[in-house]
Amino acid sequence: MGLVTGEEILRLRKSFALLERHHELAALVFYQQLFQIDPTLRPMFRGDIEGQAVKLMNLLRTALALLETPDQLVPVLESLGARHVGYGVQAAHYATVREALVRMLKGVLGDQLTPEMFSAWEGLYEVVQQTMLQGAAQAASAEVG
Ligand code: HEM
Repeated sequence: MGLVTGEEILRLRKSFALLERHHELAALVFYQQLFQIDPTLRPMFRGDIEGQAVKLMNLLRTALALLETPDQLVPVLESLGARHVGYGVQAAHYATVREALVRMLKGVLGDQLTPEMFSAWEGLYEVVQQTMLQGAAQAASAEVG
């Protein structure tokens, strides 16, 4: 979790506050971009997209709140990653989700997204992805063993 520095955390919180002013739009743009990049992902989402969008934003809010307390954040992300195996998510899908997130941030925040904020988001995504995949791998080895 040490990948995200104190300064980056401030930038992430600032940009998330900007994003939350348009949270419904942000979440919908994210899924619209995701399904445009890879339409085969659409059937994996069985619930309604508005509800899913709210869950995604809530998770990001939790992650931002817990960045300074990795002992609390890591188990949340590991079990989220393990549940994603059950949704049929594969490691390669994380790059697609990253691309959709990048497009959403640029589209919704526009000029408000500074290069420093952008690289802080990239750092955050990297940490979230790694920790979720770690949880997925642990779940897989627990099943075998
Ligand atoms: C930063 C990475 C990600 C985050 C923070 C995230 C967050 C979430 C959250 C909070 C949920 C709600 C259910 C739960 O808590 O278990 C969820 C469900 C789901 N996510 Fe993700 N996710 C991520 C990556 C991915 C990726 C890479 C895929 C692949 C396409 C994906 C596909 C799904 C699917 C299919 C569901 C279940 C939807 C349903 O049952 O309708 N997620 N995700």
